[in-house]
Amino acid sequence: MEAQFKRGDSCWKQRTGLEKWILTLLPCLILIILVLIIVIAMQQDHTKENVAYTSSNEEICVTQSCVSTSNLVLEYIDTSVDPCDNFYKFACGNYIKNNIIPDEKLAVNSFSIVNDKVQQQLRVVLESHDKNEAKVLQTVKDYYKACMNKGKIAELGLQVLKDVLVSCGGWPVLEGPRWIPDSFDWENLMFAFNRIGFDSGYLVEVTIGTDLKNNSIRGIQLDQPSLGLSRDFILQGNESQFVQGYFKYMIDVAVELGCEKQAAERELKESLDFEIELAKISSSKEERRNITMLYNVMTIAEIQERFSGIQWLEYLNSILHPHVHVNSSEAVNVVSPRYISSLIDLLSRTPKRVQANYAMWRVIKSQISYLTEGMIQHQLNFHRTLFGVSERPSRWKECVEEVTNTYKCVICTNLSIIYYYLWIGWMSRLGKVHLTKLLC
Ligand SMILES: *[C@@H]1O[C@H](CO)[C@@H](O)[C@H](O)[C@H]1NC(C)=O
Ligand SMILES: *[C@@H]1O[C@H](CO)[C@@H](O)[C@H](O)[C@H]1NC(C)=O
Ligand SMILES: *[C@@H]1O[C@H](CO)[C@@H](O)[C@H](O)[C@H]1NC(C)=O
Ligand SMILES: *[C@@H]1O[C@H](CO)[C@@H](O)[C@H](O)[C@H]1NC(C)=O
Ligand SMILES: *[C@@H]1O[C@H](CO)[C@@H](O)[C@H](O)[C@H]1NC(C)=O
Repeated sequence: MEAQFKRGDSCWKQRTGLEKWILTLLPCLILIILVLIIVIAMQQDHTKENVAYTSSNEEICVTQSCVSTSNLVLEYIDTSVDPCDNFYKFACGNYIKNNIIPDEKLAVNSFSIVNDKVQQQLRVVLESHDKNEAKVLQTVKDYYKACMNKGKIAELGLQVLKDVLVSCGGWPVLEGPRWIPDSFDWENLMFAFNRIGFDSGYLVEVTIGTDLKNNSIRGIQLDQPSLGLSRDFILQGNESQFVQGYFKYMIDVAVELGCEKQAAERELKESLDFEIELAKISSSKEERRNITMLYNVMTIAEIQERFSGIQWLEYLNSILHPHVHVNSSEAVNVVSPRYISSLIDLLSRTPKRVQANYAMWRVIKSQISYLTEGMIQHQLNFHRTLFGVSERPSRWKECVEEVTNTYKCVICTNLSIIYYYLWIGWMSRLGKVHLTKLLC
């Protein structure tokens, strides 16, 4: 025994370093191979479970999602139609037969069906309570709650908006002779809007975007603004039902805020005419397809030389404040040079009162959804003329939409994560741990 042991011992000692290493590794390798074989075998079992074989040995997916998807496709198919005759009717016939567009919607399609489902899930999430949740989620939920609080909205009425308007210098049509043009210039009004958090791109839109010719560069862009009524509609002239509906909307809102109807009609007609002029100097969608024409990069100093009449350096820095400060050698893309020069000309011909009436109207219009029932009714009337919708979506839908839109930018990537974890978390009570880790 002793000898044998000794021989064995010396046998190990006689091995070279490499041989010892291989001998130690061998059992490990065998173990790994065994594990792999088991895993592969298990996976094959798993796929077999979900795939049934037809006699011709073609694979057919019978997982839950495959079955429910094919079921959905079958529901849409109209089998009474010959696909060689009218394939579209064959493929979608029953979908069209069985779906009625709800009064508050413009269209229904597969995307809107998914969207409705997500909205419902988000509602459950937004209305749930959890004491120990991340601050960002609490903020989102508070925002939703404020949106749903119709009692408070009715109680505050229009006073908050009126105060804000006065703090920006007042809406001339509402102020009447009290409004004095001397101290007004549109740049300062835009800075005031910007400070409050309103959009400030009603005459010139300043954005930061990806360079059209080199996507590693992000830069400032000066562009034409979007209008209160889309350019195509507004150019149909003031006899068209859309422009008429838009004009009526302005007057209704002004009267709701306390204007006298005749005064509103008189003054806002000029504001509308100004907006029609803005539409005329803007480029059409077709013209904006030509990338070469949309690419006019120049320094702020060059812009100042070419488009005098606006103090560009000061203007851009005030709009970008406090995030960015630029100097006059900063390169800026003037997307539509023709618009900018026409705008300067148009502004020099337009009374300050008209400019103020227009800009203020645009800000008021952007806030209607947050105001009283009366105001929202005017908005609905306008949308009825414009889109043909005859009812508003339920309040919760509007609020879910509002929350999703608002926080889309603020917490870009987070929202999908919030949605995912909140929803999954709500379902399983498991995900919230991950969410707190992710966000805090
Ligand atoms: C794009 O911009 C980057 C950063 O300024 C620069 O390094 C690169 O050479 C540019 N590419 C082209 C094609 O101009
Ligand atoms: C309608 O258009 C005409 C001519 O373009 C203009 O003179 C008139 O003031 C416009 N009316 C309204 C309500 O804007
Ligand atoms: C785009 O605009 C440029 C500059 O004005 C012009 O030379 C070019 O022909 C236009 N391209 C098309 C496809 O219209
Ligand atoms: C403007 O700022 C850039 C960097 O942001 C700097 O390199 C450049 O020297 C400045 N130009 C002037 C004229 O101050
Ligand atoms: C969520 O947003 C915050 C603040 O914007 C950011 O710091 C954080 O990295 C984001 N989390 C994820 C997972 O993107």
